[in-house]
Parts: sequence; structure tokens; C-alpha cells
Amino acid sequence: MRSLLHPRPGTTAAFLLFVSIAYLSLALAFNIDTSSTRTLPNTYIVEFEAPPQSFETVQEMKMNRQSFFRRLDERNIFYHVRQEYELMNAVSIQFDKPENAYEVSEMPEVLKMWPVNLFTRPNVIGHPGRIIPNLHASHNLTGVNLVHEKLGLTGSRIKVGVIDTGIDYTHPALGGCYKKPGCRILWGHDFVGDDYDGTNDPSPDDDPLDQCNGHGTHVSGIIGANDIAKGFVGVAPDVTFGAYRIFGCNGTSPDDIIMKAMEMAYKDEMDVINLSLGDPGWPESATAALGDKLVTHWGMSVSASAGNDGSKGTFELSAPSVGKNVISVASVDNLCLLAFVARTASGRLIKYVTENDKALNISTGVVTTLDPNNTPNLALDGCTPTTKDLTGKVALIKRGGCLFITKITTAWEAGAIAVLIFNNAPGIEAPSVPDNITIEVAGISASDGATILAEIQQGGPQGEVVFNFTEEEIEFPNPTAGTISSFSSWGLSAELDIKPDISAPGGHIFSTFPLALGGYATLSGTSMSSPQIAGVIALVLQANSDKNQISPLKIRDILLNTARPVPMYQTNTTDSVAHQGSGLVNVYDAILSKTVITPSKLELNDTAHLAFRNVYNFTISNNGDGEAIFSFDNAPAGTVKVYNQSGFFPLEKPIVGIENSTDGDLDLGVASVVFPMQSFIIPANQSANISISIFPPPVPKLDRPVIYSGYITILRTENTSDAYTTTNASTLVRVPYAGISSQLRDLPILNRNAIFPTVTTPYGNPLTNASSTSFVFNSSHPAIVLYQLASPTRLLFIDAVDARNTSHSFGLIPDGLETFLGRNDPQDETDFQQVSWSGKVGLDYTTLVSEPLPGGIELLANKTKLLPAGKYRLVVRALKGFGNQTDFVDYDTWRSPVLAVGGK
Ligand SMILES: *[C@@H]1O[C@H](CO)[C@@H](O)[C@H](O)[C@H]1NC(C)=O
Ligand SMILES: *[C@@H]1O[C@H](CO)[C@@H](O)[C@H](O)[C@H]1NC(C)=O
Ligand SMILES: *[C@@H]1O[C@H](CO)[C@@H](O)[C@H](O)[C@H]1NC(C)=O
Ligand SMILES: *[C@@H]1O[C@H](CO)[C@@H](O)[C@H](O)[C@H]1NC(C)=O
Ligand SMILES: *[C@@H]1O[C@H](CO)[C@@H](O)[C@H](O)[C@H]1NC(C)=O
Ligand SMILES: *[C@@H]1O[C@H](CO)[C@@H](O)[C@H](O)[C@H]1NC(C)=O
Ligand SMILES: *[C@@H]1O[C@H](CO)[C@@H](O)[C@H](O)[C@H]1NC(C)=O
Ligand SMILES: *[C@@H]1O[C@H](CO)[C@@H](O)[C@H](O)[C@H]1NC(C)=O
Repeated sequence: MRSLLHPRPGTTAAFLLFVSIAYLSLALAFNIDTSSTRTLPNTYIVEFEAPPQSFETVQEMKMNRQSFFRRLDERNIFYHVRQEYELMNAVSIQFDKPENAYEVSEMPEVLKMWPVNLFTRPNVIGHPGRIIPNLHASHNLTGVNLVHEKLGLTGSRIKVGVIDTGIDYTHPALGGCYKKPGCRILWGHDFVGDDYDGTNDPSPDDDPLDQCNGHGTHVSGIIGANDIAKGFVGVAPDVTFGAYRIFGCNGTSPDDIIMKAMEMAYKDEMDVINLSLGDPGWPESATAALGDKLVTHWGMSVSASAGNDGSKGTFELSAPSVGKNVISVASVDNLCLLAFVARTASGRLIKYVTENDKALNISTGVVTTLDPNNTPNLALDGCTPTTKDLTGKVALIKRGGCLFITKITTAWEAGAIAVLIFNNAPGIEAPSVPDNITIEVAGISASDGATILAEIQQGGPQGEVVFNFTEEEIEFPNPTAGTISSFSSWGLSAELDIKPDISAPGGHIFSTFPLALGGYATLSGTSMSSPQIAGVIALVLQANSDKNQISPLKIRDILLNTARPVPMYQTNTTDSVAHQGSGLVNVYDAILSKTVITPSKLELNDTAHLAFRNVYNFTISNNGDGEAIFSFDNAPAGTVKVYNQSGFFPLEKPIVGIENSTDGDLDLGVASVVFPMQSFIIPANQSANISISIFPPPVPKLDRPVIYSGYITILRTENTSDAYTTTNASTLVRVPYAGISSQLRDLPILNRNAIFPTVTTPYGNPLTNASSTSFVFNSSHPAIVLYQLASPTRLLFIDAVDARNTSHSFGLIPDGLETFLGRNDPQDETDFQQVSWSGKVGLDYTTLVSEPLPGGIELLANKTKLLPAGKYRLVVRALKGFGNQTDFVDYDTWRSPVLAVGGK
């Protein structure tokens, strides 16, 4: 799990079973995975067969559970009940031993068991106290300004639940008080306490005050701050809040607590909840499944962050946002940016930005180039070591030709105290700085860089320019305004749902922060875009005279119908639906729209699951007072090349086919759409069903697979005439479509390269076929299996087979069964999965796997068994997309070298 606030991966714990990090990194020269989800040992959410509806009352359901607990007592199972749920008939339980969990999974009243995952605390990166003059810039992007000005809607009567780090309710912009008449925060609970980190005991109380973290306070301000003194308002400044605190000041939070908070928000009758948190996942992940149920069954809207894994390529969306009817929110960049200021003695000013949004920690800096003659080769500036001594100085380096880290290291080795990297493209970009670099690094614009370079060069080989670096900030227009933020995660979902659903401003957003931490902050992330949608939903609800008359599914439909697709930066090509969903939300259009299209997205699936004869249907409802004419068009988005063909791994930067300047066509092709007619008329308050045909683009084999996508545009025109005038009003609504140009079942799951998959000794030395049997594994010296997933997989298992007769399986190895795994980043050697093996089989189960495994491989075994000393291989089997679990051919399979196992 990663932080959802900032594009940098968070630091989280890893699956460390036997090997220490030091061992592995020494031998393999890379570090253990820092991004995998951690599960709490022997802790499960247990869902019972009988649904809540089968009981008369909650009391009766709880009584029924008592008899379950009694049966556990009778069987001498030691357990601790962590949470009891009411909206689903489920509890979360920690067992003493793995055997207990197995036994419980076999009990007839148990329907499903999910391991309890830890979600990392959203990492707050930002500079407290930063204030931009243009406080409401993001409202101009979303139509919120028009809703405030023209419709006068502010979210009054609407209740918003914020499941987060708590809220600093002492902040005047958030009402200044808690649970008293007149307060804005009227409901709430602290499930954890300040000191909770995910692994220690929570100390819950009734007070969700956050004065140490700030994330939830920022999120709440985006939804509904109302600061009269400063003139700053959130999207819906009259909503009231429920504050459900599930993160302590530091550390992680388990999904069973997050789910309990979601349930409490429902019981407090929240109209919408916001979840600015997540973890790459599947619609079947526990939080995603509950989120979906809250929408479809319990009628509460759920908005969640798409994730901040935009630098990892496609199929990287977070749960809970991937829940079928949860709204998954991507991020677009805001209109304005903040930069720090540096000045020369003459008062001339340059703007600089840093990755951590903090001013450079130097006051006066002598700036010069890395080149002894001050005539650097700008195409490769800083890419090779220099002989020049920059001790105590600031290095000016042009971007390009090699990685930032190479340039920074060159400057550091030359003795520089800081680096200014000037852009080779429009705008200012903060260079990413590796953790092990301690010198100061900032980014400046190409033009500022060229000016400073010219000034330095005027001084010849000795040329320098002196700047005073300040903490002063200025605002300037953001060159990437209105385009998808680089950190925003790519879809589609692992099952090819259109996710994200919609976009909202999340890059450089001003909002409230705990008073103790400065009171205000400008932060970035899909953590900031999801609450914009929560606030927007509050406005839509208020626009309906009876908020109970509009279902969350209908709200999602009209938001998706009226969103506006955005182009990619510096192109006229519409960004992929897999990146932006239906586009940038426009709540003004959503509230005024008289057209509703359902379904609000057309999920075309893979080529094996296209609709019969490629025919897709939707319904157009005319909710206006008069008849209207509707006409159609197809507006394709850029087709996205997903894989690197040579290694067949997902690209970190998917290649988007942009508009060809010669012929105007989009590279990589686009879907063609056939409409039954050009246009037709629908009378007032009636609807019509439309069938259209969508054909995937022909894609050369070399480019496959691609994600193709676009929008069916529906133009509504109506004549509104009275005795004197006739006006012809047109409005546009859209339905996004997306599919993949291959069969998911043909795509590999395991990443195969020089490193992965592999088996190592406990000391981290990879085994080769030649060396493998020279090491004898046992319980004190286990073998370690390491693998990377190039695609998500629903089911992966590892079994031990006879070294020679590999079709003879002895069964699953302990901890060798995983379900609903997200993918790894194959370009990051430190991002992998690992399992250790000491020669045992048995004790693997999951109630999330309903069908048998192929070839009669034992799925369930209640005891581990040590295999006799001898020679074995381990086989990693990962189920391919939409594959048949009972069929060997649908698995991507890797066999280890021969392993000698020595019994005890
Ligand atoms: C936002 O719109 C308002 C008018 O509604 C305008 O005064 C303001 O300058 C706009 N801000 C930006 C950053 O475009
Ligand atoms: C949280 O972490 C910060 C620094 O990492 C530390 O200073 C602080 O004491 C921690 N707070 C708690 C409550 O553990
Ligand atoms: C930097 O600031 C100091 C103190 O304010 C001032 O004396 C000096 O002239 C400034 N230098 C430049 C390059 O602006
Ligand atoms: C920092 O770490 C990277 C790899 O993570 C390594 O290549 C580089 O040499 C390190 N730099 C320093 C200065 O230690
Ligand atoms: C795509 O087809 C598969 C196989 O029928 C199905 O399981 C999956 O739900 C479909 N995806 C969508 C988004 O409809
Ligand atoms: C986008 O379209 C406009 C108007 O047709 C044109 O002037 C501009 O050059 C195009 N931009 C790019 C990057 O192709
Ligand atoms: C569209 O409607 C037709 C006719 O009612 C039906 O046969 C077909 O299955 C529908 N297609 C989809 C994708 O639902
Ligand atoms: C752009 O279109 C021209 C004319 O059709 C074609 O020759 C050229 O190869 C295209 N460029 C790309 C990058 O596809």
C-alpha cells in the first residue's frame, strides 16, 4: 500500500518471513519490496452464510453469532473478536494459530474469509501555511463556482462522512467545535487514538480530533470549509460532517477498522462518505465490496481516491475505489501553482519548486555550472563526472540526457551544496530526489535557466551568479492545468471495468490544515480529488428537493454523463478513458442537465467477451419540459499501448497514440462506431433505447495489447419558443467506452527476466540450475521464492512437486496461496512478492476460492506435513485473466530449479 497524498511511494513494511533486509540486499543488490500490502497475522474478516436480511433484528443476528462463538469455545479455539458488523453479517477475528483459521473456514455457517490488510496512512507532504491568493481556482474547473454564484447551493441539510486521520474541528473554517448545537462536525468517533500505528492496540474514544497529521482536515476543508475571515470556502460550505478517525498520527490502519468506520457513517445517516485512502486491489477486496454494497444496497454515495500510482502504468487502481459502484476519482492539475522565490542583488527574481514543497535550506547561494569552462554540453549536462570543484556552491544543470539522480550525484561528488535543474520543456518540474541524497535540489524553468547560464558565461570560466533563496512564494499559472496529474493512477480495473470513473482537481489544492500545523496547506494527490466529488454529490443532493428521491447510482450516472473529457498535456488528443474515466466533473451541468443516459459507461471487455455482433445498448431519458432532438457522434480518445513488446511487461509510461499532424488521425487506431440513425426526437418525460455497434481498432500484432477508448457524444437540441422568440439550446452529454484489443487470457502474469522469478538461499543468493542442490533447505534455512506479477491475478498458488516427475504434486506449500493480487512494477527490482519454504506442505486455504484447483491439487489441508528428505521443485502458478481455475492451461506457470530438502 502506498500513500495516497503524494506521487512518491510511501515507506511501508514488507513481507519479511525469515530473511533480513540486509541479507537480501547484500546478495541481490536490491532492497525488499517497500510497497506490498501487509496482512495482520491470523486475523480475518469472517462473513457468515445468513445475510443480515434473514434476521428480524440486529439483536437476533448478534445472538446468532453468540452460538458461533460458543462453537469456537467448544472446539478449544482461542480467538479475539476485533469488530462486529451489522450491514454485513460478519465479524473480524484474530486467532491464536493458523490451524484455527483453517478450522473456522470449514464451518458450514462461514461464507467467506478475507485476511485483514493494513492500509498505510496517507502521507502528508506539503508545506503548512502555504496560501495561494487564488483560493477557489479549482472551483472554476468543476463548475462549483457557478453552482455557488448562480444556483446558490451550498450543501445545506447534507451530511458528509470523512473516513480519515480525523479533523481539527477547532479550526474556525470547520466550525470551531464538536457535537454541540451549531457545530459543523456533529458526528464522529476515533477508532484508534494518536499512538495507533496499525499493529499495536487501538485506544478508541469519541473524539476524532486531528492535531498531528492533517490529512483529514485538508480533505474536509476541500469538501466544506467556510472561512469567513479569509473568504475561503470548500465545495459545499454548509454541509455537516461525521468525522471517523481510522489513522493514528503515524503508521497504518487495518481494513477491518476502516470497514467499521464505513458502517458507523451509514448508521449516522451520512448521505455520502469520502475515502481518500486505498491500496491497489480488486473489486473483490473487502473494502471495495463493502463500498459497493453501501451504494447498491444501503443507498449511500461513496467517493474514493483512484490512487497515486500514475508512474507505474496501467491496471494500478486502488481499492476501495475499484468497488463496482464506488466512484473512483482521478486527479487533474489545478489552474495555479506556487513556487518559491530567489533573487539576485539587482532584485531580479526566479521561481523554484522542490519535490517536498519546502524552500531550499540555504540562504545565499553562489550558482555556477559543472563545466570547468562554463560551456557545458547541454544535451548531456551533468551526466558524467566533472573535474570542477563546486565546494559550497550551487550547481546549475540542464535537464535531459540522463536521470536526475545521475546529475545530482555528479554535483554532489563535485562538492555542491545544492542543485538547480532547469527544464528542457515548458513549465517547472520538481526533480525527484532519491532518499540517499542529502543535498538540496530544486527545479526551475527553461527560460530562467537559460538566463542564469548566460549571466554565468559572461564571467568566463570563473563566472558565477549569486542568489538569495527565500521562503517567499508566488503564484503562477500552471502549464499542466486541467490535464490529468502525472501521479494519478491508470485503470482499467483487473476485470476491465471502466475505472477511474471521473476526474476532479487534486494537484496543488489549497485547504484547511490543523491550526497547530499552520492552519492551511496546499497539497497534491487523488486524496484531494476524491473529496471534491464528495462535495459535488452534496450539491447535487441539495438540488433535489427531497434528497431521498435520488439514488447514489443516479447521481453517479448524471455526474458521468456531464463530465468533460480533457486532452493530454500539449496535445489535442483526448486522454484515455483508462486515465480520466468520464472526464473532469462539471457539477453545474450535472444539476441542470435534462438528459440522463444509462448505463453511464460502456465496458467493452476483452476481445473474447465483446458483445454479440458488437451491439451495445443504452437508454436516453428526456427529463425536460419539451421534446428534444438527439444526435450522435463518436469522439475517440488516444489509444494506449500497454506493454513493452520485447520483455512483455507493462510500461511505466504507457504510449498514447496522439493526433498525427499530417493526416489528423490518432496513431494506434481508434474504435469505429455505427449508429442506427443520425438523430431522432424524444418527447418530454420519455425515453428511448438505442443500440449502437462498436468495433475495436485493427491493431498491428506488435502494438498489442492496447486499451482503446472514447466517448459516445449525444447532442440534445430543443426549441424553446414562446409567443415572441424561439431559442435553440444545445447541450452535450457523453458515455465513455473502453476495451482491450486482446484476450486477457493470452497475456502473461509472471514477469520473467534475468532476476525473476527466482529461488534464493536464506542468505539471498539466487540458485542456478547448476548450483541448486548444493544447498539443503530445512526449517532453519528456508528457500525463498521471489516473483513479480506483470498483471493482476485472481489466484496464485505454489505447490511442491517431485523433482523428476513434475506432474506429481505433493500439495500447496504453507503461505503459498494468494487471491486477488495487484501487479508489481516490473521496472522496479525492489517491488516483488516473496514466500519462504522449509520443506512443508499443507495448511493453505481461502474461502475466496470457490472452485477446486486443477489436477486435484489439495486446496485444503488442516495440518502442515514435513516432506521426507529428498529433491523437489516448487511450481508458481498464476491464473490468467478470466481464466478457468480448474484448468492447468489457464495458468502462467514457473518451475524452480531442483531443491534439496533435508527434513528437520
Ligand atoms: C475563477 O472564476 C472567477 C469568476 O467566477 C474569476 O473571478 C477568477 O479570476 C477565476 N479564477 C481563476 C484562477 O481562473
Ligand atoms: C510520529 O512520527 C514522528 C516522526 O516520524 C514522531 O516525531 C512522532 O512522535 C510520532 N508520533 C506518534 C504519536 O507516534
Ligand atoms: C541577500 O540578502 C542579504 C541580507 O538581506 C543582502 O545583504 C544581500 O545583498 C542579498 N544578496 C543578494 C544576491 O540579493
Ligand atoms: C543512492 O542509491 C542509488 C540506488 O538506489 C545508487 O545507485 C546510488 O549510487 C546511491 N547514491 C549515493 C550517493 O549513495
Ligand atoms: C468481462 O468479461 C468477464 C468474463 O465474462 C467478466 O467476468 C467480467 O466481469 C467482464 N467485465 C466487465 C467490466 O463487464
Ligand atoms: C491543436 O489544435 C489547434 C487548433 O486546431 C492548433 O492550432 C494547435 O496547433 C493544435 N495543437 C497541437 C499540439 O497539435
Ligand atoms: C442489446 O439489446 C439487444 C436487443 O434487445 C440484445 O439482444 C443484446 O444482448 C443487448 N446487448 C448488450 C450488450 O446488452
Ligand atoms: C502520419 O500520417 C502520415 C500520412 O498518412 C503517415 O505517412 C505517417 O506515417 C503518420 N505518422 C505516424 C507517426 O504514424
